[in-house]
Amino acid sequence: MRKPLIIGNWKMNLTVSEGVNLVKSIIDSGVDQLKVDYGFAPPFVALSEIKKYLNDSHILAAQNIYFEDSGAYTGEVSADMILSVGANYVILGHSERRHIFKESDEVINKKVHQAVKKGLTVVLCVGELLEDREAGCETETVLRQIALGVKDLGPDHMKRVVIAYEPVWAIGTGKTASKDDAEAMHRAIRGFISKLYSENIAKDLKILYGGSVKPENIKDLMSAENIDGALVGGASLNAESFVKILKFYE
Ligand code: PGA
Repeated sequence: MRKPLIIGNWKMNLTVSEGVNLVKSIIDSGVDQLKVDYGFAPPFVALSEIKKYLNDSHILAAQNIYFEDSGAYTGEVSADMILSVGANYVILGHSERRHIFKESDEVINKKVHQAVKKGLTVVLCVGELLEDREAGCETETVLRQIALGVKDLGPDHMKRVVIAYEPVWAIGTGKTASKDDAEAMHRAIRGFISKLYSENIAKDLKILYGGSVKPENIKDLMSAENIDGALVGGASLNAESFVKILKFYE
C-alpha cells in the first residue's frame, strides 16, 4: 500500500513569519498523519524556522539544490546546507526551473544523483507542454524526462525518488487534467519504471499529481488507482484550502 503524500510548494511566496503562521494553523487543524504524509516546500530562507514547528513525520522540502558539494557557485545552495536545517526532501526539475531558468535534463539528473547520494528524497517533476499534448506526444515527452532525470540511478537510490506529474498547461492556470487523463499518465509512468527497474520498485513508487489541485478536485484525483498524492502550489498558500486538501480522506 502506498501511503498518500501531499506537499505544499510555496514557490517564491511568503515571508518567514507569514510561513510560520500558515504552518502553525495547518498543524493545529489536526490532519491525521496516519492517513496522509504531508509537508511544506518553503523558500530556502524559511526552512530552519519552519522546521521548529514540525514533527519527525512531517516533510520539509527545499525547492531546489545545486549538484556540487560546495564552492564558488554564487547564489546556489547545497544538499548539505538544506540537510543541516532539517530538510528531508527536495523538489527537482519543476517546470518553472525547466522553463524560466532553463534547467536541462542533464543538470536535473546531476541534481537527482547528488540529492539521493546525500540521503534526501527527491520529488522529480515532469510534465508536457500544451503543444506536446495537442501533438499527441505527451506520454513520450514525460517518459523521456523521467528516463533522463533518473539516468544511471541505481535501484536503491531509485527507492528515494517520488515522481510528480505536472502538466505544464495545468500549473497555476486553474485547468486540471481530468482524472482519467492523469490516471492514464500515472499508469504509463509506473509501467515505464517497472521496465526500467523492477515491478517491486514500480509498485512502491509514489506518483503525485500537480497542477491546479484544489479542495474541489482532490477527492476525485485521489480516487484514481495510480495517483498517490499531490504537489500543490497556489492552494497550499491558504490554510483553509490546504487543510481541506490534506483532509481529502474525510
Ligand atoms: P499550482 O502549482 O497548484 O498552483 O498549479 C503546482 C506546482 O507548480 O507544483
